[in-house]
Amino acid sequence: MTSAHRIITPESVLPGAAPCGHIIRGKTVPAASGKTFSTVNPANGREIARLAEGSAEDVDRAVAAARAAFAGPWSRWTPTQRQALLGRVAALVDERFEELALLETLDMGAPLTRTRMLKEPIRQMIMFFAAQALNVKGETLQSSLPLSVQAMTFKAPVGVVAGIIPWNGPLISQWWVLGGVLATGCTAVMKPAEDASLSVLRIVELLHEAGMPEGVVNVVTGFGHVAGEALARHSGVDRVAFTGSTETGRKIIQASAVGMKKLQLELGGKSPDIVFADADLDKAVPGAAMGVFNNSGQVCYAGTRLFVQRSIQHEFVERLKAFTATVKVGDGLDPTVQLGPLISQKQLDRVTGYVGDAPSEGARLVAGGQRPGGDLANGFFFTPTIFADVSNSMRIAQEEIFGPVISVIPFDDADDALRMANDIDYGLGGAVWTRDVSTMFKMVNGIRSGTVWVNCYGAVDPAVGFGGIKNSGYGVKGGAEHLDLYLYRKAVYINLG
Ligand code: NAI
Ligand code: MG
Repeated sequence: MTSAHRIITPESVLPGAAPCGHIIRGKTVPAASGKTFSTVNPANGREIARLAEGSAEDVDRAVAAARAAFAGPWSRWTPTQRQALLGRVAALVDERFEELALLETLDMGAPLTRTRMLKEPIRQMIMFFAAQALNVKGETLQSSLPLSVQAMTFKAPVGVVAGIIPWNGPLISQWWVLGGVLATGCTAVMKPAEDASLSVLRIVELLHEAGMPEGVVNVVTGFGHVAGEALARHSGVDRVAFTGSTETGRKIIQASAVGMKKLQLELGGKSPDIVFADADLDKAVPGAAMGVFNNSGQVCYAGTRLFVQRSIQHEFVERLKAFTATVKVGDGLDPTVQLGPLISQKQLDRVTGYVGDAPSEGARLVAGGQRPGGDLANGFFFTPTIFADVSNSMRIAQEEIFGPVISVIPFDDADDALRMANDIDYGLGGAVWTRDVSTMFKMVNGIRSGTVWVNCYGAVDPAVGFGGIKNSGYGVKGGAEHLDLYLYRKAVYINLG
C-alpha cells in the first residue's frame, strides 16, 4: 500500500509496545546493557515509546560499524551515486511526509501546523546537499617547483562524523548532518536528544529503504552525559557536529581534544530584534512576536530581546499584546493550534523560573506568564508571555530562556540600540525593522551576529545558511562552506620527471 491509501493515525505512526533499538550496521538492536528509557508526548505527559539506553559500549559498536562502512563499498560510490541516493530519500520523505510530521508532533510537541509546513524546507535542504555532492573540488595550481613537479589539492571525506542534535526540531535539523555526510562520502553516528529521537530513527530507516549501505549512518539513542559524552570523546570519531546548549558545547570542545576533532557548534542565543519608529508595524508586530513564539520559543536564533524605539513603545506593546491574544496554544494534533507545549518538565521548570523572577528585577508582565489549565494542565504548556520595561542587564534579557517569552527593551536612537544589541555573550541571530535604507545598513553592519534579517525574522535558505559567533558557537550550517566539516584538504605533489 502506498501512503496515500494508508490510514494515518497516532497509533499507526508510533513504534508500538516493543522498545525501539539503536540502529547499528543497518539493524535495529537493543542496548548492550538491555536497558531502556521512556519518552513521552509533551502535550499530555504520556509515554509514547521506550528507547534503547545507549552506553559507551553501544557507542563503540556504532563507531566500529561507521568505520567499517567508511572503508567498505561506500568508499567507491561516485558523487553521482550519492546524489541519486539523496534524491531517492527526498522522494521517500515526500511520500511519507504526513506520517513523519505526525510522529514529530507526538514526540516533541510542535503542532501539525508547524511540522507539516516543514515539507518543502526539508525537500529543499536534501536537494541542496544532493547538489553539493557534485560540487567537491580541489585545485590545480601553477607552482614554482621544478617543471617536472605538478602540485594540486584534493578534497577527501574525513571519515566518521558524530551528529549530536537537540530536541527542538530533529525532523529537519538532522539533515544538516545527514546531508553533509551523504554528499561527501563520510559515515556517521547520530545521537538524537533523549526527548525527541523518533524522527531520527525513522529517517535512518528510510535511508536504508532508499538504498544506503548498512553502517553508513548509525543511531545510538540515550542520554547526553553518557552516550553523547562517549561519542564526542571517542577516538574513532573524526569530527563532531553539535547543536544544543552553550554549556554542553563547552564539554564537547573539551572532549574533542581526544583525536583533535574539528567541530561545528551551533549553540545558544539571545538575539536582538530592533524595531524603529518608522517600521511598518502591521508587519513588525506579528513578525517580531512569531520571531520568538515560533516552536514555543524553542528556537536557537529566536529574537528574544525585542528593542523598540521609545517613541512607539506604548503603541507597539499594546499591539503586541493584542496579537499575542490571538495565538492559539494547545495539543498540536488540533489543526488550528499554532503553539504546542514545551518539550519537557525540565524545560517548563526553567521557563517558569525565569518568568517568576523577572518582576523582582523590575520587568512588567504584560501578557501570559503562567501555564494554561483545563485540558492542557497535564502537558508542558506555557502561555505566550510579554515583559515590558525590561533593561538589557536583567537576567531575562541576558540568559537564554528557550520558551515563549519576549522582553521588550526601549531604546532612543540607532547608537543606543546597537550598543545594547551587542552587549551580550551570544551572536547568533538578529533583525532590524525599518523603512530607512541608511538605518538598515547601519544595523546590518553593526550587529555582531552570524545572521541579520531585515523586515522579516527567521528565514533560512540552505544555500546561504547561518552560523554564530561568540558563545553561539562556530562553523556554518548551509552554504558551500558547510562541507568543510566533512572534508579535509590533501596537497598532492607529483614528480612527472
Ligand atoms: P543539551 O545541549 O544538553 O542537549 C543537546 C544534545 O546534547 C542532546 O542530544 C543531549 O543528549 C546531548 N548532550 C548533553 N550532554 C552532553 C555531553 N556531555 N556530551 C555530549 N552530548 C551531550 O541541551 P538541553 O539540556 O536539552 O537544553 C538545555 C538548554 O539548552 C535549553 O534550555 C536551551 O537554552 C539550550 N538549547 C539550545 C538549542 C539550540 O538549538 N541552540 C537546542 C536545545 C537546547
Ligand atoms: Mg518525546
